[in-house]
Amino acid sequence: MYLTIIFLFISPFVLSLVFLLRKDKSHFSYPNLPPGKAGFPFIGESFSFLTTGRQGHPEKFITDRVRNFSSGLFKTHIFGSPTAVVTGASGNKFLFTNENKLVVSWWPDSVNKIFPSSMETSSKEEAKKLRTLLMPFLKPEALKRYVGVMDEMAKRHFETEWANQDQLIVFPLTKNMPSISEHGRSRKGKKLEEPFKMVATGVFSIPINLPGTRFNRAIKASRLLRKEVSAIMRLRKKELKAGKGSAEHDDILSHLLMSIGETKEEDVADKIIGLLIGGYDTAKQNEILKGKEGEEGLRWEDTEKMRYSWNVACEVMRIVPPISGTFREAIDHFSFKDFYIPKGWKLYWSAIATHKNPDYFPEPERFEPNRFEGSGPKPYTYVPFGGGPRMCPGREYARLEILIFMHNLVKRFKWEKLFPIENKIVFDPLPIPAKGLPIRIFPQS
Ligand SMILES: *[C@@H]1O[C@H](CO)[C@@H](O)[C@H](O)[C@H]1NC(C)=O
Repeated sequence: MYLTIIFLFISPFVLSLVFLLRKDKSHFSYPNLPPGKAGFPFIGESFSFLTTGRQGHPEKFITDRVRNFSSGLFKTHIFGSPTAVVTGASGNKFLFTNENKLVVSWWPDSVNKIFPSSMETSSKEEAKKLRTLLMPFLKPEALKRYVGVMDEMAKRHFETEWANQDQLIVFPLTKNMPSISEHGRSRKGKKLEEPFKMVATGVFSIPINLPGTRFNRAIKASRLLRKEVSAIMRLRKKELKAGKGSAEHDDILSHLLMSIGETKEEDVADKIIGLLIGGYDTAKQNEILKGKEGEEGLRWEDTEKMRYSWNVACEVMRIVPPISGTFREAIDHFSFKDFYIPKGWKLYWSAIATHKNPDYFPEPERFEPNRFEGSGPKPYTYVPFGGGPRMCPGREYARLEILIFMHNLVKRFKWEKLFPIENKIVFDPLPIPAKGLPIRIFPQS
């Protein structure tokens, strides 16, 4: 599922230059702008935006304003930019279908400061190149071969981490699945975990670079990561040259190295860190996939039959989408819903606000997998993976990962939550269970 976010962190390198050159002094003085407030100087409404997420209901930032301004579009000022927030299926459709025509993907300036790119080529091309390079891993034909391996890794995870326990905290455990230690790299894995977390958290933070701020910690952590990742890459390059491991259908890292050729490690490292931040669970998986083929156990065809399980997973991603929303930037002046959007403005669409809209999902807080029966939700109302040309290319991978995990879990265990009341999900900026989700488990008889 975290593969979704991978691509959200690739594009940042992209538009940051445009961002730096922007002139937004007069940004709230055009006629016929959408209704809304600029908030405080500099930080605008960023605090409200972040706080609603950390309190577990990011959609509130949007629903509160939609109610007050009674329009499906409002303006605000977040992460240093005037931003128009679109809502509902029509807003999503507008952004997804106008990619590269009126809008392009955009990430806050903080992302650029955390990942200063030294690449001379335009970063937009880099993002495109990376996407193309990754595609072979994410095509159904490639994924089919991984099902057996993923199944085996899930089995081993439950065997080593769950089987001898009666109580455990799920979230940190699943981050270890499948364990990187199989390649004798457990210490490095652990060492990188903390900086990864810091960078991920810093991406959506107020960009104030003073000692102690989240932003400052993220910048420092990214320097450490760049060093570590470059070292791992040099090692892997050596291994590849020595003929250890064929890059053709191996892990992402080998594949990138082979395709990129003689580019400097540090240059590629940033891109890879971007990948890892979003998908570091996933990247670990690929590390393990190296050189292994599936044996018996689950097959692709089996996952196709898990209709109800997939409905359950879809309902989870409706209530807790992998990321609450993403940005675009207007590359031209245009009007939407009769309001004027100036060139250079940012636009934000929200998966979670769409998913919690009672017009699309009656009683949105109720967990109801049957919503996905039959033809399912209407177009552009269910968007956990985004849409349009920027739609998450890892969604099929995510489907497999989720189903295989669920399959092995329910086959082996029953469970109950330990503190049902305290199990809140917070968005910081990625969704995590605030208490890590402690449970009591029982063997399935
Ligand atoms: C919405 O309007 C109410 C009443 O005027 C006001 O108290 C509240 O601050 C407004 N909320 C936002 C987010 O503008």
